[in-house]
Amino acid sequence: MNLADIDASAWAELEMAAGNPLSGFRYVNLCTVDAEARAQARMVVLRSADRTTRSLEFHTDTRSQKWLELSANPEVTVLGFCPQARLQLRLQGRVERHGPGSEHADAAWQNLPSRTRMTYVGGPPGDERGFEAIGELPEPLGEVGGKPRFGVLSFRARTMDWFELRQQDNRRALFVYDETGALSSCRWIDP
Ligand SMILES: Cc1cc2nc3c(=O)[nH]c(=O)nc-3n(C[C@H](O)[C@H](O)[C@H](O)COP(=O)(O)O)c2cc1C
Repeated sequence: MNLADIDASAWAELEMAAGNPLSGFRYVNLCTVDAEARAQARMVVLRSADRTTRSLEFHTDTRSQKWLELSANPEVTVLGFCPQARLQLRLQGRVERHGPGSEHADAAWQNLPSRTRMTYVGGPPGDERGFEAIGELPEPLGEVGGKPRFGVLSFRARTMDWFELRQQDNRRALFVYDETGALSSCRWIDP
């Protein structure tokens, strides 16, 4: 495989992972930088991927720390490892936030199953939770109560660090994309 094929196949893996809970890339690490310049990482579900624009989409609660961090600094790293493909992908780029009431968030909310909508109904992420609240239904409003807190994160990659884990002779390559998502350069690098 040449580098262009490797790039295409990595993005095909990401597109496939968004629809396949068994793929290693279905859950990836979204890494932000907080106001004190500390790295912050957390797992998120990969909701969609688009190879033409080099975009990934995630969902989150707009009351979360990550949402705040991204308002101050939209530069992120997305890190994933798929054991089946033996691939680590480290993507760097920017996130655009689509908050409650935006067309993007409304459209994504429409497609969410009820059980997923319910994850936005509870108290603000990170707030202390009393033991008596565990197991209770959080709000009488039901799933509609989550909509004003639901946000979409659209990530666009500018670089992809591709690393293939092998028995011997690991391989690593760096891909750079322009602002339209076209591949602008690529090269093998030492692993
Ligand atoms: C496998 C897995 C998937 C997760 N998916 C999401 C997700 O899609 N969106 C999200 O906001 N949090 C998700 N979480 C929870 C986050 O990892 C994190 O704990 C939470 O969003 C609070 O992060 P923050 O305080 O840095 O904003 C997931 C956790 C796990 C373990």
